[in-house]
Amino acid sequence: MNTQVLPVNEESIALAAKLLQQGELVALPTETVYGIAADARNGEAVKKIFEAKGRPQDNPLIVHICGMEMLHGIVSEVPERAKKLAAAFWPGPLTMVMPRGPEVSEVTCAGLDTVGVRMPSHPVVQAVIKASGVAFAAPSANLSGKPSPTNAQDTFVDMDGRLPLILDGGESAVGVESTVLDVTSGAPCILRPGGITKDMLESVLGHVDVAGSVLRPLQKGEKALSPGMRYKHYSPDGQVTLVEGAEADVVAAMAKLATHADAQGHRACVMCFTEHMDALKDCHPHDIGSRDNASEVAHRLFDTLRRLDEEHMDVIFSEVVPPEGVGLAVMNRLGRAAAFHTIQARDVLKDEEA
Ligand code: TXA
Ligand code: MG
Repeated sequence: MNTQVLPVNEESIALAAKLLQQGELVALPTETVYGIAADARNGEAVKKIFEAKGRPQDNPLIVHICGMEMLHGIVSEVPERAKKLAAAFWPGPLTMVMPRGPEVSEVTCAGLDTVGVRMPSHPVVQAVIKASGVAFAAPSANLSGKPSPTNAQDTFVDMDGRLPLILDGGESAVGVESTVLDVTSGAPCILRPGGITKDMLESVLGHVDVAGSVLRPLQKGEKALSPGMRYKHYSPDGQVTLVEGAEADVVAAMAKLATHADAQGHRACVMCFTEHMDALKDCHPHDIGSRDNASEVAHRLFDTLRRLDEEHMDVIFSEVVPPEGVGLAVMNRLGRAAAFHTIQARDVLKDEEA
Protein backbone atom coordinates (compact mmCIF):
# COMPACT_ATOMS: atom_id res chain seq x y z
CA MET A 1 0.00 0.00 0.00
CA ASN A 2 1.24 3.47 -0.87
CA THR A 3 1.17 5.85 2.12
CA GLN A 4 0.60 9.52 1.29
CA VAL A 5 1.70 12.27 3.71
CA LEU A 6 -0.28 15.44 2.99
CA PRO A 7 -0.25 18.91 4.51
CA VAL A 8 -3.53 19.97 6.09
CA ASN A 9 -5.86 21.85 3.75
CA GLU A 10 -9.45 21.60 2.56
CA GLU A 11 -8.68 18.88 0.02
CA SER A 12 -6.70 16.65 2.37
CA ILE A 13 -9.39 16.98 5.06
CA ALA A 14 -12.02 15.98 2.47
CA LEU A 15 -9.89 13.00 1.42
CA ALA A 16 -9.48 11.93 5.06
CA ALA A 17 -13.24 12.19 5.59
CA LYS A 18 -13.92 10.10 2.49
CA LEU A 19 -11.45 7.39 3.51
CA LEU A 20 -13.02 7.16 6.98
CA GLN A 21 -16.52 6.89 5.52
CA GLN A 22 -15.25 4.07 3.28
CA GLY A 23 -13.91 2.12 6.26
CA GLU A 24 -10.24 2.99 5.66
CA LEU A 25 -7.58 4.22 8.10
CA VAL A 26 -6.22 7.76 8.40
CA ALA A 27 -3.35 8.86 10.64
CA LEU A 28 -3.70 12.38 11.96
CA PRO A 29 -2.43 14.83 14.56
CA THR A 30 -4.13 15.40 17.90
CA GLU A 31 -3.01 17.75 20.70
CA THR A 32 -1.60 14.76 22.63
CA VAL A 33 0.08 12.48 20.06
CA TYR A 34 -0.64 11.33 16.49
CA GLY A 35 -3.45 8.79 16.18
CA ILE A 36 -4.74 6.20 13.67
CA ALA A 37 -8.44 6.75 13.04
CA ALA A 38 -11.17 4.37 11.84
CA ASP A 39 -14.98 4.54 12.11
CA ALA A 40 -15.74 3.33 15.66
CA ARG A 41 -19.05 1.82 14.49
CA ASN A 42 -17.44 -0.25 11.75
CA GLY A 43 -15.79 -3.40 13.17
CA GLU A 44 -14.09 -4.32 9.89
CA ALA A 45 -12.51 -0.86 9.69
CA VAL A 46 -11.36 -0.97 13.32
CA LYS A 47 -9.77 -4.41 12.80
CA LYS A 48 -7.42 -2.74 10.33
CA ILE A 49 -6.08 -0.52 13.16
CA PHE A 50 -5.11 -3.57 15.21
CA GLU A 51 -3.40 -5.07 12.15
CA ALA A 52 -1.53 -1.86 11.24
CA LYS A 53 -0.19 -1.47 14.81
CA GLY A 54 0.33 -5.15 15.61
CA ARG A 55 -1.81 -4.40 18.67
CA PRO A 56 -3.27 -7.15 20.88
CA GLN A 57 -7.01 -7.47 20.11
CA ASP A 58 -7.97 -7.28 23.79
CA ASN A 59 -6.74 -3.70 24.26
CA PRO A 60 -9.70 -1.33 23.72
CA LEU A 61 -9.55 1.92 21.72
CA ILE A 62 -10.68 5.46 22.55
CA VAL A 63 -13.59 6.96 20.59
CA HIS A 64 -13.14 10.60 19.43
CA ILE A 65 -16.07 13.01 19.08
CA CYS A 66 -16.42 16.74 18.36
CA GLY A 67 -19.67 17.62 20.18
CA MET A 68 -21.72 16.39 23.16
CA GLU A 69 -24.57 15.38 20.82
CA MET A 70 -22.25 12.74 19.31
CA LEU A 71 -22.28 10.81 22.61
CA HIS A 72 -25.72 9.53 21.66
CA GLY A 73 -25.39 5.86 20.70
CA ILE A 74 -21.70 5.83 21.69
CA VAL A 75 -22.44 5.67 25.44
CA SER A 76 -25.63 4.31 27.01
CA GLU A 77 -25.57 6.89 29.79
CA VAL A 78 -23.61 10.06 30.57
CA PRO A 79 -22.91 10.00 34.33
CA GLU A 80 -23.45 13.36 36.11
CA ARG A 81 -19.78 13.71 36.94
CA ALA A 82 -18.86 13.11 33.31
CA LYS A 83 -21.03 16.08 32.35
CA LYS A 84 -19.21 18.26 34.89
CA LEU A 85 -15.81 17.17 33.65
CA ALA A 86 -16.80 17.62 30.01
CA ALA A 87 -17.88 21.19 30.77
CA ALA A 88 -14.50 21.86 32.42
CA PHE A 89 -12.03 19.96 30.23
CA TRP A 90 -13.53 19.16 26.80
CA PRO A 91 -12.30 19.71 24.22
CA GLY A 92 -8.93 18.58 25.62
CA PRO A 93 -6.70 15.66 26.65
CA LEU A 94 -9.21 13.84 28.89
CA THR A 95 -10.71 10.41 28.09
CA MET A 96 -13.66 9.25 30.19
CA VAL A 97 -14.59 5.57 30.48
CA MET A 98 -18.41 5.33 30.42
CA PRO A 99 -21.05 2.64 29.88
CA ARG A 100 -20.89 1.53 26.27
CA GLY A 101 -23.69 2.44 23.84
CA PRO A 102 -25.23 0.13 21.22
CA GLU A 103 -23.56 1.69 18.18
CA VAL A 104 -19.91 1.17 19.09
CA SER A 105 -18.42 -1.93 17.51
CA GLU A 106 -17.36 -4.73 19.87
CA VAL A 107 -13.97 -4.60 18.17
CA THR A 108 -13.45 -0.98 19.30
CA CYS A 109 -14.09 -1.86 22.96
CA ALA A 110 -12.39 -5.24 22.82
CA GLY A 111 -15.67 -6.74 24.03
CA LEU A 112 -15.87 -4.63 27.25
CA ASP A 113 -19.20 -3.12 28.31
CA THR A 114 -17.52 0.27 28.75
CA VAL A 115 -16.06 2.70 26.23
CA GLY A 116 -13.42 5.41 26.54
CA VAL A 117 -14.47 8.67 24.87
CA ARG A 118 -12.66 11.93 24.34
CA MET A 119 -13.25 15.26 22.59
CA PRO A 120 -9.87 16.43 21.25
CA SER A 121 -9.05 20.13 20.98
CA HIS A 122 -6.85 19.84 17.90
CA PRO A 123 -8.45 21.71 14.98
CA VAL A 124 -7.48 19.03 12.43
CA VAL A 125 -9.25 16.24 14.33
CA GLN A 126 -12.28 18.43 14.81
CA ALA A 127 -12.35 19.29 11.09
CA VAL A 128 -12.07 15.62 10.06
CA ILE A 129 -14.86 14.53 12.43
CA LYS A 130 -17.10 17.36 11.19
CA ALA A 131 -16.40 16.68 7.50
CA SER A 132 -16.96 12.92 7.85
CA GLY A 133 -19.64 12.78 10.52
CA VAL A 134 -17.65 9.81 11.82
CA ALA A 135 -16.89 9.30 15.52
CA PHE A 136 -13.61 7.52 15.18
CA ALA A 137 -11.64 5.07 17.27
CA ALA A 138 -8.01 6.14 17.45
CA PRO A 139 -5.04 4.72 19.32
CA SER A 140 -1.61 6.33 19.18
CA ALA A 141 -0.02 5.93 15.73
CA ASN A 142 3.00 3.85 16.81
CA LEU A 143 3.72 0.20 16.20
CA SER A 144 2.57 -1.58 19.35
CA GLY A 145 5.23 -1.29 22.09
CA LYS A 146 7.04 1.71 20.55
CA PRO A 147 6.91 5.29 21.87
CA SER A 148 3.89 7.24 20.55
CA PRO A 149 4.70 9.54 17.61
CA THR A 150 4.33 13.29 18.09
CA ASN A 151 4.88 14.34 14.48
CA ALA A 152 4.05 13.15 10.94
CA GLN A 153 7.57 11.95 10.13
CA ASP A 154 7.69 9.58 13.14
CA THR A 155 4.20 8.36 12.22
CA PHE A 156 5.43 7.66 8.68
CA VAL A 157 8.40 5.65 9.97
CA ASP A 158 6.03 3.25 11.80
CA MET A 159 3.05 3.29 9.40
CA ASP A 160 4.61 3.46 5.90
CA GLY A 161 2.79 0.89 3.75
CA ARG A 162 0.23 0.13 6.48
CA LEU A 163 -2.37 2.83 5.78
CA PRO A 164 -3.23 5.15 2.87
CA LEU A 165 -3.01 8.65 4.41
CA ILE A 166 -1.13 10.62 7.07
CA LEU A 167 -2.19 14.24 7.64
CA ASP A 168 0.79 16.40 8.61
CA GLY A 169 -0.37 18.96 11.15
CA GLY A 170 3.01 19.71 12.76
CA GLU A 171 4.06 18.73 16.25
CA SER A 172 1.63 17.60 18.97
CA ALA A 173 1.60 20.15 21.80
CA VAL A 174 1.09 17.95 24.88
CA GLY A 175 3.37 15.07 23.84
CA VAL A 176 1.88 12.35 26.06
CA GLU A 177 -1.49 10.66 25.59
CA SER A 178 -4.72 11.79 27.24
CA THR A 179 -5.60 11.20 30.88
CA VAL A 180 -7.89 8.12 31.05
CA LEU A 181 -10.44 8.41 33.87
CA ASP A 182 -12.98 5.75 34.82
CA VAL A 183 -16.25 7.42 35.85
CA THR A 184 -18.46 4.32 35.67
CA SER A 185 -18.60 3.34 39.34
CA GLY A 186 -17.25 4.13 42.81
CA ALA A 187 -14.66 6.86 43.16
CA PRO A 188 -13.48 8.22 39.81
CA CYS A 189 -10.14 6.57 39.05
CA ILE A 190 -7.22 7.67 36.87
CA LEU A 191 -6.24 4.63 34.82
CA ARG A 192 -3.60 6.52 32.83
CA PRO A 193 -2.27 9.96 33.85
CA GLY A 194 -1.94 12.67 31.19
CA GLY A 195 -2.18 16.38 30.54
CA ILE A 196 -5.32 16.83 32.67
CA THR A 197 -3.84 16.30 36.13
CA LYS A 198 -5.26 14.76 39.32
CA ASP A 199 -5.43 18.25 40.88
CA MET A 200 -7.39 19.59 37.92
CA LEU A 201 -9.89 16.71 38.12
CA GLU A 202 -10.19 17.09 41.90
CA SER A 203 -10.95 20.80 41.54
CA VAL A 204 -14.18 19.70 39.82
CA LEU A 205 -15.02 16.36 41.49
CA GLY A 206 -13.40 16.24 44.90
CA HIS A 207 -11.33 13.10 45.58
CA VAL A 208 -10.05 11.10 42.61
CA ASP A 209 -8.18 7.77 42.91
CA VAL A 210 -5.09 6.78 40.95
CA ALA A 211 -4.76 3.15 39.80
CA GLY A 212 -1.89 1.47 41.67
CA SER A 213 -0.27 0.25 38.46
CA VAL A 214 0.35 3.81 37.23
CA LEU A 215 3.82 3.88 38.80
CA ARG A 216 4.67 0.19 39.03
CA PRO A 217 4.28 -3.01 37.01
CA LEU A 218 1.10 -5.03 37.42
CA GLN A 219 1.52 -7.62 40.20
CA LYS A 220 1.02 -11.29 39.42
CA GLY A 221 -2.72 -11.99 39.31
CA GLU A 222 -3.66 -8.27 39.56
CA LYS A 223 -6.49 -7.28 37.22
CA ALA A 224 -5.60 -4.52 34.75
CA LEU A 225 -8.20 -1.75 35.12
CA SER A 226 -6.99 -0.42 31.82
CA PRO A 227 -5.97 -3.29 29.56
CA GLY A 228 -3.23 -1.15 27.98
CA MET A 229 -1.29 -1.28 31.28
CA ARG A 230 -0.56 -4.98 30.76
CA TYR A 231 1.68 -4.52 27.80
CA LYS A 232 5.29 -3.52 27.30
CA HIS A 233 5.01 0.08 26.32
CA TYR A 234 6.86 3.17 25.21
CA SER A 235 10.12 1.28 24.94
CA PRO A 236 13.10 2.30 22.88
CA ASP A 237 15.34 -0.55 21.69
CA GLY A 238 18.04 0.23 24.27
CA GLN A 239 17.92 -0.52 28.02
CA VAL A 240 16.78 2.55 29.97
CA THR A 241 17.79 2.98 33.62
CA LEU A 242 16.29 5.71 35.82
CA VAL A 243 18.72 7.40 38.22
CA GLU A 244 17.23 8.79 41.45
CA GLY A 245 18.67 10.94 44.23
CA ALA A 246 19.82 14.45 45.09
CA GLU A 247 20.47 16.62 42.05
CA ALA A 248 24.29 16.80 42.24
CA ASP A 249 24.53 13.06 43.00
CA VAL A 250 22.36 12.17 40.01
CA VAL A 251 24.52 14.21 37.63
CA ALA A 252 27.74 12.68 39.00
CA ALA A 253 26.28 9.15 38.93
CA MET A 254 25.00 9.46 35.38
CA ALA A 255 28.42 10.69 34.19
CA LYS A 256 30.09 7.75 35.90
CA LEU A 257 27.62 5.19 34.55
CA ALA A 258 27.68 6.48 30.98
CA THR A 259 31.49 6.70 30.90
CA HIS A 260 31.76 3.17 32.26
CA ALA A 261 29.25 1.81 29.72
CA ASP A 262 31.07 3.62 26.91
CA ALA A 263 34.37 2.06 27.96
CA GLN A 264 32.73 -1.36 27.77
CA GLY A 265 31.90 -0.74 24.13
CA HIS A 266 28.24 0.23 24.52
CA ARG A 267 26.54 3.09 22.72
CA ALA A 268 25.68 4.90 25.94
CA CYS A 269 23.89 8.19 26.50
CA VAL A 270 22.00 10.20 29.11
CA MET A 271 18.58 11.85 29.13
CA CYS A 272 19.01 14.93 31.32
CA PHE A 273 17.50 18.29 32.21
CA THR A 274 18.52 21.38 30.24
CA GLU A 275 20.31 22.63 33.36
CA HIS A 276 22.65 19.60 33.28
CA MET A 277 23.48 19.50 29.57
CA ASP A 278 26.79 21.24 30.12
CA ALA A 279 27.94 19.09 33.04
CA LEU A 280 27.10 15.96 31.01
CA LYS A 281 28.40 17.18 27.64
CA ASP A 282 30.77 14.22 27.24
CA CYS A 283 28.00 11.64 27.80
CA HIS A 284 25.90 12.10 24.60
CA PRO A 285 23.30 14.15 26.50
CA HIS A 286 19.70 14.40 25.26
CA ASP A 287 17.87 17.44 26.62
CA ILE A 288 14.49 16.43 28.08
CA GLY A 289 13.59 19.99 29.13
CA SER A 290 13.92 22.05 32.29
CA ARG A 291 13.82 20.35 35.71
CA ASP A 292 11.27 23.02 36.69
CA ASN A 293 8.89 22.34 33.81
CA ALA A 294 7.24 18.90 33.73
CA SER A 295 5.06 19.93 30.78
CA GLU A 296 8.17 20.55 28.72
CA VAL A 297 9.53 17.14 29.71
CA ALA A 298 6.18 15.55 28.71
CA HIS A 299 6.31 17.37 25.38
CA ARG A 300 9.83 16.09 24.60
CA LEU A 301 9.75 12.60 26.11
CA PHE A 302 8.53 10.39 23.25
CA ASP A 303 10.47 12.39 20.70
CA THR A 304 13.66 11.82 22.72
CA LEU A 305 12.97 8.08 23.07
CA ARG A 306 12.52 7.81 19.30
CA ARG A 307 15.77 9.71 18.59
CA LEU A 308 17.62 7.21 20.83
CA ASP A 309 16.47 4.40 18.54
CA GLU A 310 17.59 6.29 15.44
CA GLU A 311 21.02 6.71 17.03
CA HIS A 312 21.08 3.00 17.98
CA MET A 313 21.78 3.79 21.64
CA ASP A 314 21.81 0.59 23.67
CA VAL A 315 22.45 1.86 27.22
CA ILE A 316 20.50 4.90 28.40
CA PHE A 317 20.48 6.66 31.79
CA SER A 318 17.70 9.12 32.57
CA GLU A 319 16.87 11.68 35.21
CA VAL A 320 13.41 11.57 36.80
CA VAL A 321 10.81 14.20 37.74
CA PRO A 322 8.63 14.21 40.88
CA PRO A 323 5.45 12.18 40.15
CA GLU A 324 3.13 15.15 40.67
CA GLY A 325 0.97 17.15 38.27
CA VAL A 326 2.02 16.41 34.68
CA GLY A 327 5.09 14.73 36.25
CA LEU A 328 2.84 11.75 37.08
CA ALA A 329 2.20 11.24 33.35
CA VAL A 330 5.92 11.58 32.62
CA MET A 331 6.90 9.00 35.27
CA ASN A 332 4.14 6.60 34.13
CA ARG A 333 5.67 6.58 30.61
CA LEU A 334 9.32 6.77 31.69
CA GLY A 335 8.83 3.96 34.22
CA ARG A 336 7.49 1.68 31.51
CA ALA A 337 10.19 2.74 29.02
CA ALA A 338 12.70 1.61 31.68
CA ALA A 339 10.74 -1.54 32.59
CA PHE A 340 10.83 0.07 36.08
CA HIS A 341 14.60 -0.35 36.27
CA THR A 342 15.77 2.27 38.81
CA ILE A 343 19.04 2.84 40.65
CA GLN A 344 20.03 5.22 43.45
CA ALA A 345 22.74 7.74 42.61
CA ARG A 346 24.28 7.35 46.08
CA ASP A 347 24.80 3.61 45.55
CA VAL A 348 26.61 4.33 42.28
CA LEU A 349 28.91 6.88 43.95
CA LYS A 350 29.59 4.83 47.12
CA ASP A 351 32.58 2.88 45.77
CA GLU A 352 34.41 6.14 45.09
CA GLU A 353 34.00 7.32 48.65
CA ALA A 354 35.22 4.05 50.11
O1 TXA B 1 -4.30 10.96 23.68
C1 TXA B 1 -4.81 9.85 23.41
O2 TXA B 1 -5.60 9.30 24.16
C2 TXA B 1 -4.39 9.21 22.08
C3 TXA B 1 -4.87 10.09 20.94
C4 TXA B 1 -4.63 9.47 19.59
O3 TXA B 1 -6.21 10.44 21.12
N1 TXA B 1 -4.92 7.87 22.00
C5 TXA B 1 -4.41 6.85 22.74
O4 TXA B 1 -5.00 5.63 22.52
O5 TXA B 1 -3.49 6.99 23.51
P1 TXA B 1 -4.32 4.24 22.94
O6 TXA B 1 -5.15 3.23 22.28
O7 TXA B 1 -2.86 4.25 22.62
O8 TXA B 1 -4.53 4.14 24.49
C6 TXA B 1 -5.82 3.94 25.01
C7 TXA B 1 -5.73 3.56 26.48
C8 TXA B 1 -5.25 2.14 26.66
O9 TXA B 1 -4.40 2.07 27.81
C9 TXA B 1 -6.55 1.37 26.88
O10 TXA B 1 -6.37 0.19 27.60
C10 TXA B 1 -7.38 2.40 27.63
O11 TXA B 1 -7.04 3.64 27.07
N2 TXA B 1 -8.83 2.19 27.45
C11 TXA B 1 -9.56 2.38 26.34
N3 TXA B 1 -10.85 2.02 26.52
C12 TXA B 1 -10.94 1.59 27.80
C13 TXA B 1 -12.02 1.07 28.61
N4 TXA B 1 -13.24 0.90 28.13
N5 TXA B 1 -11.73 0.74 29.89
C14 TXA B 1 -10.49 0.89 30.39
N6 TXA B 1 -9.43 1.37 29.67
C15 TXA B 1 -9.64 1.70 28.39
MG1 MG C 1 -0.78 3.86 22.70
